[in-house]
Amino acid sequence: MKKISVAIDGPAGAGKSSVAKLAAKRVGYLYIDTGAMYRAITWQMLRKKTDIQDEGAVRRLLDTTDVVLETGNADRVFVNAADVTDAIREPEVTGQVSAVAALAAVRQKLVQLQQQMAAAGGVILDGRDIGTVVLPQAELKVFLTASIASRARRRWLEMKERGRKTTTLADMERDIAVRDRMDSEREISPLREAEDAVHVDNSDMTLEETADVICRLIAEREV
Ligand code: DC
Repeated sequence: MKKISVAIDGPAGAGKSSVAKLAAKRVGYLYIDTGAMYRAITWQMLRKKTDIQDEGAVRRLLDTTDVVLETGNADRVFVNAADVTDAIREPEVTGQVSAVAALAAVRQKLVQLQQQMAAAGGVILDGRDIGTVVLPQAELKVFLTASIASRARRRWLEMKERGRKTTTLADMERDIAVRDRMDSEREISPLREAEDAVHVDNSDMTLEETADVICRLIAEREV
C-alpha cells in the first residue's frame, strides 16, 4: 500500500481542519494545518507591530521568524519556540490574517516550508492553495465547501464553546463573506478549485460523515 499526499482546500468554516485532522488520525497520516502557519506569521507581525506595506520590514521579520508545527497527541504551533496555539485563534489575528496571507514574501516562505514538510508523503494538508500551488501533484485533491450560512453557524458555535459571545451570527456571516472575497480575489494563489479536485459540499453532513468520504477517497488511491 502506498501512502499518498492529500490536499484539502476550501473557504473558511468548511470544517477543513477538523475533517483533515480526523481523517489523518484514522488513516495514520500526518496532518499539516497550513492556515495555522499564516496565522503564526500574522501573530508575530502584530506583536512586532510590523507595517505590512513595508516590504523590507516584512522580509526582515520573515528572516527572523521560525514557525514550527508540532503534531502528535496535541497539535501545537510555535513561533520562535513560543507556544502560540491559542493566541493565533484570537480575533485580532483572524481579522488580519487574510491581508498577511496576500503578501508574496509570506507565501513564498510558507509554501516552501509546507513542501518540505510534505515531501515524504502520507500527509494531509489543508488550506486554500494546496491542490493548485503547494502540492499540484497530490494524488487526492478535495475542494471542501458548504453554504455561507452553515459555515457561519459552525464558526459561531465554535466561538461560543470557547466562551466568546462578542459576535452575533449575522456578524459572523458578514465576516466569512469578507474573508471569502479577500481569499478568492487576491492576486497571488487565490482560493480556487483545482480542475482535478473532488468537490465535496458538506452543508448537510456531519464531521464524521465528511471524514468517511475523505477516508474512502484515500483508500481508493492508496492501492
Ligand atoms: O484556515 P484558516 O482560517 O486558519 O486560514 C487563515 C488564513 O490563511 C485565511 O485567511 C486564508 C489564509 N490561508 C492561505 O491563504 N493559504 C493557505 N494555504 C492556508 C490559509
